[in-house]
Amino acid sequence: MSRLIIVSNRLPFSMEETEDKTFTLRQNVGGLATAIGPYHKAHRDSIWVGWSGIDASNHTKSEVESIKKEFSKRRCVPIFLKKSEVKGYYAGFSNDTLWPLLHDFAHQANFDEETFDIYTAVNKKFADKIAPLIHKGDTIWIQDYHLMLLPQMLRKRFPEASIGWFLHVPFPSPEIFRSLPWSRDILNGILGADLVGFHTVDYANSFNASVKLLLDKDVDDQGHIEMEDGRRSTIDAFPIGIDYNLYRRTSRSNLATEMRRGIESVCGKRTGQRYATSLTAESNAATEASTKEGAWWSHYSSEDLPELALANSAASNSPKPNKVIVSIDRLDYTKGIPERLRAFEQMLDKYPEWIGHVTYYLLATPSRENVPTYKRLKEQVDQLVGQINGKYSLLSWNPIHYITRSLPIKPVCGIYAAGDVALVTPLRDGMNLVAKEYLACHDGRAGALVLSDMCGAARELDQAFIVNPYDTSAVCEALHEALEISNEESRRRNIAMQARLKFRTAATWCTGFLASLAQVADSSLADK
Ligand code: G6P
Repeated sequence: MSRLIIVSNRLPFSMEETEDKTFTLRQNVGGLATAIGPYHKAHRDSIWVGWSGIDASNHTKSEVESIKKEFSKRRCVPIFLKKSEVKGYYAGFSNDTLWPLLHDFAHQANFDEETFDIYTAVNKKFADKIAPLIHKGDTIWIQDYHLMLLPQMLRKRFPEASIGWFLHVPFPSPEIFRSLPWSRDILNGILGADLVGFHTVDYANSFNASVKLLLDKDVDDQGHIEMEDGRRSTIDAFPIGIDYNLYRRTSRSNLATEMRRGIESVCGKRTGQRYATSLTAESNAATEASTKEGAWWSHYSSEDLPELALANSAASNSPKPNKVIVSIDRLDYTKGIPERLRAFEQMLDKYPEWIGHVTYYLLATPSRENVPTYKRLKEQVDQLVGQINGKYSLLSWNPIHYITRSLPIKPVCGIYAAGDVALVTPLRDGMNLVAKEYLACHDGRAGALVLSDMCGAARELDQAFIVNPYDTSAVCEALHEALEISNEESRRRNIAMQARLKFRTAATWCTGFLASLAQVADSSLADK
């Protein structure tokens, strides 16, 4: 019977050390873990191989053994990497060369032969670990850009094995990809797979064009590439979905509801015109101070404090309800966080009636902090948030609530549910599951999605407010429109998108890819 061997850089569980020096596993909630995890759990003969995330040199032999044992209870096989391997393979070639290149940030890609050599050596380390696990008839499914050489390495050792590879990020145009000095090695590495999957048809087309340009191989209209060894590789698109019911259900859990209510009350949604009241109080206090003290304050009129004056008049004259904007991302330069903050700032500037009435919850989880570009981004975002809050805050209102911790799924769903608008504006993104998760958390409810055109999700979620994330004015206008949209119109738009998300889930993505792999691997063998 055919077993599935899943291979990815990260395992679906992270190891946590407790105070009494024992180890427990925590389930990861990233897209990959939630998409393939349930399949892995349900199929008792599946095995998952990946990096343990642990530096073995910090642990005794017996600790390493107990770590392995914990992973093996979940049918996971951990690979231990040395510090120098993590630096060259993960922080270096994967995240400082491939990541920027694949996301069209070629100018930020660092081309360094030494890190490519370490990347190659670590891919071989994976191959060495996997080889003894493979039985005749097994299926091997390799994930993402960390392991682009692995399909070919395994193919050489197991010519008959059924091998699939899936890329979770975009694939750039051949003009960008060709700048990588090892582009041909990478393409040949990937083509060791029987089935090569991408999130969108555009990425698959870019890959095919690179294969033509750099390897001079033709891809027929079925997505087939005939290889020298008589095999055939098939290239296709498989847009990943989410576990819709999980997000819908979790958004209604007690904790998420409590979180949503908390946010709504902090933002004055539950207490009516909370800011209107405090704005009046703020202005009264100012007047009182000026009268009592005859101080410098008395020399200023509301014309000198235009934001406060406008906010006050808006608060007292208009029935505008208070609103919440949310966004949740890893702190990554591809997510367009500074660009989005500038658009939010422009909106407060252009539509000051929102001052005191809209609060932006920005959850940005630090990521890959050992890569210098990520460190610089964190500093830039910290500074921008500070500037905007400094410029617009009132005594009892801050425009941006900036959270840089990683939160578990329940509070995350609470934040999604609290958002009248989700601002999802990556500069480039393979799929972007946040957009989909937000919609699932608004099942049956209003909630407007402002979505970048530069991500795979935009190809599916065409009822969203689609924007060019580099166009500050366009994002500003879309944000304003999304805040103004009626509940009926918002629900109408969402129903169409939610119907698709309910139908094309993480589970159907997983089984769909595996069914195609079984089919192409069979037909490739039959043709031999
Ligand atoms: C992207 C990649 C994943 C990766 C995730 C988090 O979504 O496609 O493979 O796991 O980012 O990045 P990290 O470097 O923390 O694993």
